[in-house]
Parts: sequence; structure tokens; C-alpha cells
Amino acid sequence: MKEEDSPTFAPSRLGTKEYWDEVYQKELQTFSDFGGVGEIWFGEESMSRVIRWLEEQNLPRSTAVLDIGTGNGIFLLELAKYGFKNLTGIDYSASSVELARTILKKDGFTDVKVEEMDFLDPQSTLGTFDLCIDKGTFDAISLNPVDTQQGKRQYVSSLRRILRPEGFFAITSCNWTKDELFQHFHQGFDVEMELPTPVFQFGGVTGNSVTSLVFKRRP
Ligand SMILES: C[S@@+](CC[C@H](N)C(=O)[O-])C[C@H]1O[C@@H](n2cnc3c(N)ncnc32)[C@H](O)[C@@H]1O
Repeated sequence: MKEEDSPTFAPSRLGTKEYWDEVYQKELQTFSDFGGVGEIWFGEESMSRVIRWLEEQNLPRSTAVLDIGTGNGIFLLELAKYGFKNLTGIDYSASSVELARTILKKDGFTDVKVEEMDFLDPQSTLGTFDLCIDKGTFDAISLNPVDTQQGKRQYVSSLRRILRPEGFFAITSCNWTKDELFQHFHQGFDVEMELPTPVFQFGGVTGNSVTSLVFKRRP
């Protein structure tokens, strides 16, 4: 079966900016009414496993980090709490940017930059980074109903531009297996580490519902 014919990869509203604008509009309202930060995609553990890996690498707290498609900005908040000082998040949804800024400000992290930007067409002012993280954004882009192939190619090209040589790219995906992610990113990136994720068993088959991989940009 071709990738696009598979039900898991069927293009859907989750691949559209309108969808995310609506989601974060509602989450902004919920935050202002009740203080809830909204959905944590793939759960808290999805952030903890990447942060544990960062801790093991002993990366300096000045490491320039970009969160691609930051959503509510909670990953940035966690990294800020761990002492990372050079943090940037981008998202193409204006309401996500407003929500992430509001949440970060509430906890006093006003020096974390959050910008409205399409990662498929990043502005030259964005600069370059030592570490890029993605939790669910490449998945969302893969579901774009208009042109998924072009979107995925453009994502890899933007990443090559933004990530410094020998920099790391930590991606968490529920749409792609390790082998599929390797296929998408093999031009310019090597797999550095597969982070362990929960394993399920069904009908005698063993698999992971989430894949968490760290790539390293080739020099
Ligand atoms: C599944 S959500 C994950 C949000 C966040 N990373 C998290 O873990 O909570 C996908 C995010 O990607 C953003 N996004 C999708 N396509 C994008 C693009 N081309 N450029 C920037 N952000 C994008 C959406 O607005 C949304 O915030």
C-alpha cells in the first residue's frame, strides 16, 4: 500500500493551519478561564525522555534550542525550568504563539522567544540552532491535505538550513516508525540514538505507538 493510501497517513484537518488556529483559540480561552495549559501531546513522558537524554549529553545551558511547532510552549517551559537559557519556539498559528507566550510569562520566563513563523518558509532572521526539537509537528505537516510530499521535503530542507553542522534533532512522532523517519531524514542526518518508548503487543505483534529519535546533522 502506498503511504498516502494508508488510513494512518490519510490527509486530515490536523494538517491545516485553520485546525490549529481553532485548537489554540479554544486553549487560550481555557487558560484564561481556568488556567489549564491544554493538551500535552504524547504525555509528559515524551518531554522527560528527551530531557533525560539532554542531561546525559551534558549540553551547556547556553545551547541554542529551537522548538519547531511549539503549540502551547510547554516543552520550552520544561527546558527553561531545567536551566536552558537560549530557547526559541516557532509556530505558524498566531493563537499558539499567544498561548505559549502567556504561559511562559506566567512562570516568569520572559526571555524565551516565541515567534509566529511557518517552518516550511522560515524567515532569515530565525538564525541557526544547536538543537531542534519536534513533538508532533512533522506528523501534522505529514497530514497536510494539500501537498504532503512537498511539505515533508520542505521540512527537511528547512531543517538542514536551521540546524548547525553536528547539531542534534530530537523528533517524537506517532505517525512514523524509526525506519520511516530514517528514510525521511537520511539526506544530511545520521541516527544518533533511539529513545525508548512504551511497547505494546497486539495479535502477536509487538510495536511502539510513539517513536522518539535523535538525529545528528552531518558536518
Ligand atoms: C501536534 S501539535 C504539537 C504541538 C507541540 N509541539 C506539543 O508537543 O504540544 C502540532 C503543532 O505544529 C504546528 N505546525 C504545523 N505545521 C506547522 C508549520 N508548517 N510551521 C510551524 N508550525 C506548524 C501546529 O500549529 C501545532 O502547534
